[in-house]
This record gives sequence, structure tokens and C-alpha cells, in this order.
Amino acid sequence: MPTELELLLIKPDGVRRGLIGEVLRRVEMKGLRIVALKMLKLKRDCAEALYDIHRGKSFYQGLIDFMTSGPVVAVLVEGDGAVEVVRNLIGPTDGRRAPPGTIRGDYSISILENVVHAADSRERAIYEARVVFDPQCEDSSESWTSVLERTSRP
Ligand code: CMP
Repeated sequence: MPTELELLLIKPDGVRRGLIGEVLRRVEMKGLRIVALKMLKLKRDCAEALYDIHRGKSFYQGLIDFMTSGPVVAVLVEGDGAVEVVRNLIGPTDGRRAPPGTIRGDYSISILENVVHAADSRERAIYEARVVFDPQCEDSSESWTSVLERTSRP
């Protein structure tokens, strides 16, 4: 079986709570390889493209608002069975039900703000990676240059 790619996202709550290192540590300790990494604030249309399969659901607008509320970290992961392995690492969607030992089980008590997202198939991983790593997807008001400008103001 050829090695597999998986797209993992650390959501705005995970970034705000300082969980980037913890999530990446778990991925690497498991034996997966991080092959691309990017921090960005998603433009609204990119968040919508990422979650196209949820359009029309009751939680959809809240989900898009949340996903565009701050920076995320996009992580492209490679390894044997990466999709299944990463999805087992993150646990089920609802943090209240996710078992201890999983990322959501250890760090979330919410179904919406559940720290991480991972694509549910090899095909979706490629699709979602193309969305989030597209330079057009980045809301440049949150880029490193604006951080630099903000922090170097007298
Ligand atoms: P994720 O794995 O990123 O996939 C879709 C996301 O929608 C999910 O994690 C949650 O953040 C969110 N979500 C799914 N179901 C609900 C729900 N019932 N209420 C609120 N948010 C939800």
C-alpha cells in the first residue's frame, strides 16, 4: 500500500489555547511525518469550500464564523494509513463524548470548538489540502507582515 496523505487543521480555538505544539507532538510521536505546515486566517469563501459538504446544515453558519474567527494551522501529514491514524488520534467530533487519550477527548468539551479537523478520506484530504494551501485562501489582514507592523509600532 503506498503511503497516504492526510490534511489536519488546528482550529482557531486550538491556536488561541496554545495547543499547536501539543497537537503536532502527538502527530509526530505517533510516527507520522509532517510534510507541509502553514498558519493562516481563512478567507470566508475558503472556509465554505472546506466545509462544502455541511452547507445547509443548522450549524453551518456558526461553523464558518468560528473557522474564520482567528488563525488556523494547516498540517499535511504523510504515513501508512494516515487518514485512519489521524482520525483515531483526534477522536470523535463531540469533545464531550470523545474518549480520553484522543486530542478532542483531552482538550474539548464542545461539538463546535473541538480543537482540530481532519479529512475523512484520501480524496477529501487532497481536496482540502488544495483549498487551505492555496495562497488565495489566506486572509492577508492576519499575515505575518501585519503582525510585524502591529508589534513594531511605537
Ligand atoms: P469537523 O470535524 O471540523 O467537521 C465539521 C465540523 O462542524 C465539526 O468538526 C464541528 O466543528 C462542527 N459541527 C459538527 N456537528 C455540529 C453540531 N451539531 N453543532 C455544532 N457544530 C457542529
